[in-house]
Amino acid sequence: MINPLFSPITINNITLKNRIGVAPMTRMSAGDNSIPRKDVLDFLVTRAENNAGIVYNEAIVTDYESAQGYPGQARILNQNQVDAWRVVTDKIRSRGAISVCQIFHCGRMAYEGVNPANRVIAPSPIAPSQDNPLTGSPYPLPEQMSRFDMDHVIEGFVETAKGAMAAGFDGLELHCAHGYLLNQFLSAYSNQRGDKYGGSMENRYRFVHEVIDAVRMVIPGDRLLLVRVSNWGIADMDVSLFESKGEWQEMIHLFSQEPINGISLSTYDFSAKGFGTDQNMTQITREATKLPLLICGKIYDRKTADKALEDADIVLAGKSMLLNPNWVSDVQAGKELKLYGSDEAGIAYTDTPLP
Ligand SMILES: Cc1cc2nc3c(=O)[nH]c(=O)nc-3n(C[C@H](O)[C@H](O)[C@H](O)COP(=O)(O)O)c2cc1C
Repeated sequence: MINPLFSPITINNITLKNRIGVAPMTRMSAGDNSIPRKDVLDFLVTRAENNAGIVYNEAIVTDYESAQGYPGQARILNQNQVDAWRVVTDKIRSRGAISVCQIFHCGRMAYEGVNPANRVIAPSPIAPSQDNPLTGSPYPLPEQMSRFDMDHVIEGFVETAKGAMAAGFDGLELHCAHGYLLNQFLSAYSNQRGDKYGGSMENRYRFVHEVIDAVRMVIPGDRLLLVRVSNWGIADMDVSLFESKGEWQEMIHLFSQEPINGISLSTYDFSAKGFGTDQNMTQITREATKLPLLICGKIYDRKTADKALEDADIVLAGKSMLLNPNWVSDVQAGKELKLYGSDEAGIAYTDTPLP
């Protein structure tokens, strides 16, 4: 019998040859042109060559005003940027994999000096609780977004989605996880607005709905639109961003009403139980949606991949894909593999090309 991991899956007429993929990973290698270094782009092609079924790129910044959160991030907003990514998506396709472009706005996780227009905006004027790991200083207090800001941000998502489609990506993912802007709207921890974009889950969801609505219009029906969600944030590591299983499921239910093709769950550990229940995050999410689910977090060998796939449809790996170019075949062979730590992933941000 074929192991389910290595069986194909079809989502919206797009078939993945297996259920293992490269998780989105920022590399911070771009120069002023917002185009990543060649070896960084090549890394994605190598992973497709080495049998990943789905390959995510690094999170792409959606505008030139306030979206960027780290130095050296990439954009897909002009022809040169589109051309650079076109080469990558063509090669990924020719190696039998599908490509997904993740896009994001950092909101309050941006910091002074990194954005060309030097603004930091968020749903509410509340800064993240932890210091910025890159600067060692507190994040600045963000400005509360006005309606003008919200429209401008939506425009950035739309223009970037157009760029990603022109660059030939098979899918687009809205990064609604990890404490970045869309997640900031969804969580009452960072969204304390008194207007119709704050308060109830339905209200906090409203801005995300507007983004999905606008972006779907520029994504052809035969390509994928996905969202990534998490209950944790990069600069609020120990905070449960959603109050309860019920609140999480209410959000998932709202996503399920949208014209999207899947939900990607980001966890520290796929097997960890969520919200004080005896269920993991995939099981909790599955109860609230029929959409395909992708799961990520400490999936590092055959045993963990098989286990994670019991509840999800596709498994993604971050650090293992980054550091072991042969990871998919090693998993297939059932090799004993190591669980990489975050300290080892720091190589992603150096000039040293990845293996
Ligand atoms: C170097 C690095 C960069 C990352 N950048 C992103 C990113 O741009 N977008 C995102 O959603 N997650 C990002 N992540 C999180 C990964 O996608 C993944 O969820 C995380 O590494 C946990 O999976 P793992 O245990 O297989 O490493 C990054 C992780 C690493 C190690």
